[in-house]
Amino acid sequence: MSRQTYYITTPIYYPSDDLHIGHAYCSIAADTMAKYKRMRNYDVYLLTGTDEHGQKIERVARERGLEPQEFVDGMVVKIKDLWELMHVDYDGFIRTTDPQHVTAVQEIFSKLYEKGDIYEGVYEGWYCTPCESFWTESQLVDGLCPDCHRPVEKTSEKSYFFRLSKYEERLKDLFREQKDFVEPASRANEMINNFLKAGLDDLAVSRSNFSWGIPLPFDPDSIAYVWVDALCNYITALGYPNEPEKFDHYWPADVHLVGKEIMRFHSLIWPALLMALELPLPKKVFGHGWLLFEGGKMSKSKGNVVDPVILVERYGLDAIRYFLLREFPFGSDGNYSTEALLKRSNSDLSNDLGNLLSRVVAMITQSFPEGFPSEKDFAELDAELTQMADGTAVKVEKHFEKMEFSLVLEAIWRLIGQSNKYIDLTTPWILAKEEASRPRLAAVLYTLADVLRRVSVWISPFMVYTPEKMREQLGISAAGAEIEEELSSWDSAAKAGLYQDDFRVQKGKPLFPRIDVEAELAAIEKLDLS
Ligand code: MSP
Repeated sequence: MSRQTYYITTPIYYPSDDLHIGHAYCSIAADTMAKYKRMRNYDVYLLTGTDEHGQKIERVARERGLEPQEFVDGMVVKIKDLWELMHVDYDGFIRTTDPQHVTAVQEIFSKLYEKGDIYEGVYEGWYCTPCESFWTESQLVDGLCPDCHRPVEKTSEKSYFFRLSKYEERLKDLFREQKDFVEPASRANEMINNFLKAGLDDLAVSRSNFSWGIPLPFDPDSIAYVWVDALCNYITALGYPNEPEKFDHYWPADVHLVGKEIMRFHSLIWPALLMALELPLPKKVFGHGWLLFEGGKMSKSKGNVVDPVILVERYGLDAIRYFLLREFPFGSDGNYSTEALLKRSNSDLSNDLGNLLSRVVAMITQSFPEGFPSEKDFAELDAELTQMADGTAVKVEKHFEKMEFSLVLEAIWRLIGQSNKYIDLTTPWILAKEEASRPRLAAVLYTLADVLRRVSVWISPFMVYTPEKMREQLGISAAGAEIEEELSSWDSAAKAGLYQDDFRVQKGKPLFPRIDVEAELAAIEKLDLS
C-alpha cells in the first residue's frame, strides 16, 4: 500500500536581505512538522524557496551596483547555508527565477487570459514596495500601508486584472463550509470581516513600470505581479503544468504555513487563482504569529543578536529550535529576547532534562554497571509514572496534529518534571545502601531509563542532536544499529517497557551546559556585530 502523502510549505522568502530569527521561526516550525510526519511514516514533501522578482529586489540590487540576478544568486547561497545550519531539511527548494517556474507561470497566465479571467486595464492607486501590495485610497491607514505602516507610492500604470470578484461567492462558501481551512480561527474571522464582507475588487496582476519579473506571454512589456508569480510556486515546484506525475502525487497541499500578514494572499487570492485554474484547493492555510523585537519591529542596529547564525554558534541549534517552539504559542505573537532564550535553556534544558538524564545515568552506573537484574520490585509509584508517560504519548500526537508545538513540549516537560519529583519520592540513593532493596532500586531506575528513552523519541522532531546524545548515554546506541533504529521510531515511544535490561549506560557530557545569563548578556552587548 502506498504511504499517505504530506505536503507542507513555507512562504518563499525575499532574498533582499539576510534572514533573521523571525524568518527562521516559520521554517523551523515547518521542518518540525515535516520531521514528525516522516517519523509517522508519511511520504513528506517540505517545500521552501525564494521569491526573487519584484520592485524591491530590483531596487536593492541596483543600490548595491549589481544586476538583480547576480544579487539574488549570492543571497540564495546564504539562505541555503542557513537552512543547512538549522537543519531545515527541505525536499524542494524553488527559486522564482528557475526557468521551469518562469515557463510555468507564463503558461498559467496564458490559461487565465484565454479563459477571460484576466483582462487589460489601467491601475490607478497606491503601491507598497516593501510589501509588494496594491492598496486603494480607502484601505490606507493615515495615508500609510495598512500592513507595514510605511509610506506608499502613487502609481498609474497599464495593468492586467484578474477577475477576483468572480470568485467572491465561492470564497465565501469555502469559509462557510470548511471551518478549518484557515487556522487559527481568529485569522479566518479577520479574512471574513476585513475583506470578504466588503466585497472583493478585481486584482491587478501585472506591472509595467519596471522590468524585473516574468514577462507576460501575451504582452512581453508587462511582467507578472510578484505575488501571483510567488504564489504559483506551490504548484510549479511540483511540476505543474507539464509534469503531472509529481504534481498529482502531492497536490493539494496539506498545509501552507505563513505569517499572519500574508494570510490575505494565501487564503483569498491563492484559492481564487486555483479555482480559476480548476485545481483542488490546499487543505489548510495556517497563519502563525510574529516574533516581536523590543516590542515591535526588528532593527538592524540591535539586530545582529537575532542573527540566527550567531545564536546557533553561541547557544547551539537544539536550544534555539526548542525555545522558539516552546516559548510562543504558534498562532500568537511573542516578544523575542535573548534573555528569555538563555533562561529557558537553563531551566528546561540544563536543569529539567539535562539533570534528569545525568542523575539517572550516574545512579545506574553506580548500582547496575552491568545492566539491570531481572528481579525488580515494581510499586504503585512506578506504575503512575509509566501511565503518565502513556498519557503523554497521546497528548503529544494530539497537539502535533493541531500544530500546537508549545503544548507538545509542555506535555513532554511535565513528564520530565514528574520524573525528577519521582526521584525525590523514591530516594534511590537510600535504596542503594541496602542490598535487600536492590530489586526496588532496579525497578525505580529502570522506570526512569524507560521514560527517558521515550522522551528522546518525542523530542526528535524539535531537536537534532540531543535525542542521539541521550540514546548514547542510555546505552541504546551501543546495543547495535538495529535496536537503535527500532527504539528511535515514533511507535516505539508509545510503548512502555522497551528499555532492555542488558543495555549498558555510558556517562557523557552534560546535554546543555548552564549559561551564566548576566555574563552572557553583558558579553553580547559588547560584541562588535557591525
Ligand atoms: N515573499 C513573500 C512570501 C511569498 S509566499 C508565496 C514574503 N516574504 S518575507 O521574506 O517577507 O516573509 C516570509 C515569511 O517570514 C512570512 O511568512 C513572514 O510572516 C515571516 N516573518 C518575517 N518576519 C517575521 C517575524 N518577525 N516573526 C515571524 N515571522 C516573520 O512575505
